[in-house]
Amino acid sequence: MRVVILSDPAAVAQFAADELVVRLRRRPAQVLGLATGGTPVELYQRIIQAHRRGDVSLSQVTTFNLDEYVGLAPEHPASYRSFMNAQLFDHVDVPRPNTHVPLGAASDLAAEACRYEGAIAQAGGIDWQLLGIGRDGHIAFNEPGSSLRSRTRVKTLTAQTRQDNARFFASLDDVPRSALTMGIGTILDARSILLMATGESKAAAIAACVEGPITASVPASALQWHAATTIVVDRAAAAQLHHAAYYLEAEAERQRLVPSP
Ligand code: GLP
Repeated sequence: MRVVILSDPAAVAQFAADELVVRLRRRPAQVLGLATGGTPVELYQRIIQAHRRGDVSLSQVTTFNLDEYVGLAPEHPASYRSFMNAQLFDHVDVPRPNTHVPLGAASDLAAEACRYEGAIAQAGGIDWQLLGIGRDGHIAFNEPGSSLRSRTRVKTLTAQTRQDNARFFASLDDVPRSALTMGIGTILDARSILLMATGESKAAAIAACVEGPITASVPASALQWHAATTIVVDRAAAAQLHHAAYYLEAEAERQRLVPSP
């Protein structure tokens, strides 16, 4: 695991934007796994700005989002499809048919989960997967207890996750009780992973993800099995990492050996 500790959320967003822009300039036809939530919004804004400046094109990109609420039609204002359109897709040149979000309103959710896995495989698998993290250590909507080999399926949301996401809905009662989500196994199949986290509310989850035992109780800890994962955090989210000084030193050494980009 590469752990990058930066000063603040703006620096975290810039780090992620630089990584994505460099990747896309090297190879414009890539399969990107994308995430929702508050954390990636600033990254998406920076990608939109880079696109407007002519620094990057998403015209050959295919995207797969991690998850969608069960029962929300794509046009629902709080759906993750609406979120992605508003925060990124409406403002860049990715062809809309190349963008995929699981259909949470599907009548047969098991069939939809299977179809989604098939679509990812048909696209050649995910080259670069972006992740956030829940306060309980969830990635996508893989709540504690999720099988570490799980594939796309329906998961029931915890009370804490529903509470945390209520800000995107009119009231807590409006937050769906379950979601269709890529599994941990699906995520671990990605060739490269970038997890972003900011703020002190994520500090315990980040410490458990990076330094805790690998356990289904902290789904993000499964990333310790992945060979090419970067965790990028601000100082507040890094506050409970025991080896923070080492990660800073390792990153400085890395910059010395492999100057970026
Ligand atoms: C939701 C999403 C996750 C995201 C998490 C954290 O539960 N399904 O993919 O990582 O929220 O969101 P935020 O970035 O708003 O803290």
